[in-house]
Amino acid sequence: MNPKQLVGEKATEYIKENMIVGLGTGSTAYFAIMKIGEMVKNGFRITGVPTSKATEDLALSLNIPLLNIADVKKIDVTIDGADEYDTHKNLIKGGGGALLREKIIASITEFYVIIADKDKGCDILGDFAVPVEVTPFAKEITINQLKALGCEPKFRQKDAELFITDNQNYIADCKFKEIKNPKELTAMINSIPGVVENGLFVGMADVIISDDGEGGIIEI
Ligand code: 5RP
Repeated sequence: MNPKQLVGEKATEYIKENMIVGLGTGSTAYFAIMKIGEMVKNGFRITGVPTSKATEDLALSLNIPLLNIADVKKIDVTIDGADEYDTHKNLIKGGGGALLREKIIASITEFYVIIADKDKGCDILGDFAVPVEVTPFAKEITINQLKALGCEPKFRQKDAELFITDNQNYIADCKFKEIKNPKELTAMINSIPGVVENGLFVGMADVIISDDGEGGIIEI
């Protein structure tokens, strides 16, 4: 079984009947959602809260009942992917551009499960550029302010146009060197007025499920 499917399906073991479940975004979360769809088809009752439009569409195609975000106060378990994780379970997320909704969902989640291939693990974050969601107004000012934090920011493109998030914002991918203090960096990035949110998820993950490279699973 491919590692993404292995960890995606394993993560669904944290879901109990009648839970409210946050549904992540990306190619690893896809396998968890497919498994949840199968569980629902077999009569297992859960309600989902999607972290992106793409995930909402996938969940609806699988007949997973969804809650309107306005009615959600707390989520029991969220299963989501990551682009990089360190030994303290800090994450870089947003490779798929869904970081804002993902972080909002994570912030009201009781038990946050991250699923990621083992080669996304590292001692210190920073190989992956930190995605930063930026409001379109005065984006040039915002990118200069990001640059002043010591990174090389680049607006993400899609089909030769600027990538637009589900929230109608842009993403600046900010390549830092080693991120020695992700908590401090999160606060610094978010103090820039044109920044909506950034893809550093510090102290949020409860467990990271990854593969061991030999067909087995590791949980940290
Ligand atoms: C989307 C995300 C994804 O969870 C992250 O990019 C990992 O994706 P994949 O499982 O496809 O590698 O944060 O915004």
